[in-house]
Amino acid sequence: MLFKRVKPIDQIIATAEKKGLTRQLGAFQLTMLGIGAIIGTGIFVLTAEAGQKAGPGMMVSFVIAAIICALAALAYAELASMVPVAGSAYTYTYGVLGEGTAWVVGWALVLEYTIAASTVCVGWAGYVNGLLVHAGYGLPEFLRVGPMDGGSFNLLACLIGLTVTGLLVVGTSKSASVNTVLVLIKIAALTAFVFVAIPAVKDPNFTPFVPNGWGSPMGGIGVLGAAASIVFAYIGFDAVSTAAEETKNPNRNIPIGLIGSLGVCTVYYLLVSYGAVGSVGSQPLMDAHGVAFEPGTPGFAAACAAVSEHAAQPLVCSKEALAHVLRLLDYNRLGNLVGLAAGIALPSVILTMTYGQTRIFFTMARDGLLPSGLAKIHPRFHTPHIITLITGTFVAVFGALFPVGILADITNSGTLFAFMMVALGVLILRRTQPDRPRPFRTPIAWLVCPLAVLGCLLLFLNLSEKAIITFFVWGGIGLVVYFAYGYRKSNLARSNGSN
Ligand code: ALA
Repeated sequence: MLFKRVKPIDQIIATAEKKGLTRQLGAFQLTMLGIGAIIGTGIFVLTAEAGQKAGPGMMVSFVIAAIICALAALAYAELASMVPVAGSAYTYTYGVLGEGTAWVVGWALVLEYTIAASTVCVGWAGYVNGLLVHAGYGLPEFLRVGPMDGGSFNLLACLIGLTVTGLLVVGTSKSASVNTVLVLIKIAALTAFVFVAIPAVKDPNFTPFVPNGWGSPMGGIGVLGAAASIVFAYIGFDAVSTAAEETKNPNRNIPIGLIGSLGVCTVYYLLVSYGAVGSVGSQPLMDAHGVAFEPGTPGFAAACAAVSEHAAQPLVCSKEALAHVLRLLDYNRLGNLVGLAAGIALPSVILTMTYGQTRIFFTMARDGLLPSGLAKIHPRFHTPHIITLITGTFVAVFGALFPVGILADITNSGTLFAFMMVALGVLILRRTQPDRPRPFRTPIAWLVCPLAVLGCLLLFLNLSEKAIITFFVWGGIGLVVYFAYGYRKSNLARSNGSN
């Protein structure tokens, strides 16, 4: 039976050791890899989107998303320490729930990593376009944003996607050390923001607190709708586990990297969102019927353009939220510096996401679920260059064409699904293989994992309709690809001849 085609965990570890990547990352580099992947477009850009969806209540959204991601991270850490090989949730489900489910999870992770990289390309372009405009060298409007945002082609998003792809082809170890410096820049920018914005907080900016209510299924609105989008801001901790196979002493270092990076980022996000909401306000733009516009739509773009003609642009419309808040507070130079920091540092997130995707494809190809030619390692750079080039091209094209919020929600659909599967996997393995060594054990797993599953489901249902539909269409395509190729060609199918 299809879902009984389970790859034994010992075999997963053995395959990795046979065709392995070099183990070179330590706990510090791994935590940096995590923070590098986590802090990015979510806090720098989607704060505006979250304001349009939830108003000041977005602060609660940040907390809800943090709690659910922390639950998922605890589950991730157990599986990552038990199965310290590349491929993340895909690999774990292969060892627990079988090939069919693993394929679906791997396919969902493509949405997570590839589209996340595109999302950050768009976020980066928002900041760099803002800097160029302030310097008097703005690109023509139609090259600043994609078609749904009132432009034609997001040129900078496309270019950064291609540049990062080039870096990844040339080699990861070089990229990882650059990543560490960039993480420090991001932390410095957020710290400066908090120090300026929090003293400017005014009570009236918190009323009404939840102008769009708490949320509704497939509504993509309200506090839960914003939390579903904000999950994006926390994604990245799982990129740590995709590097497991390149990590020294993974049993100790992977849990440190996962939980440590998530903890640091959560504290920063809460401070930054409080500062942004409280200092300049974040009330949503409403249509004539008193209904909030859906961000990332031509209607919302037009409403923003109309308001900005006779008043300062509201926070919810900004494509460079944190720099915009600082400029509104009359800290122009600091605003530009934060913009510069985002411009310099966000590419590290694109890098980590694209890297994560290439390693998942690499693992899937190594398992025979994708053509093995894709997993070829470059003779000089020692990187999976073919997969990297294919992934990078998609990242750049999606970044050029779609708005940041829609890309983020689509990313989250794949992510939340993968989180659910990992939490389920922990529980199943506790039952089926209770004696297997677990260097990290999810605390009170029988409470934490079901809560993680329910929390992810709740957020998934509160994503926008577009994101949920895209997820199921993508899943359908994935099943067709699986039955046309991987089902027959997988190493497991060929080695035991079973179905
Ligand atoms: N968490 C990452 C970001 O916000 C993906 O950009």
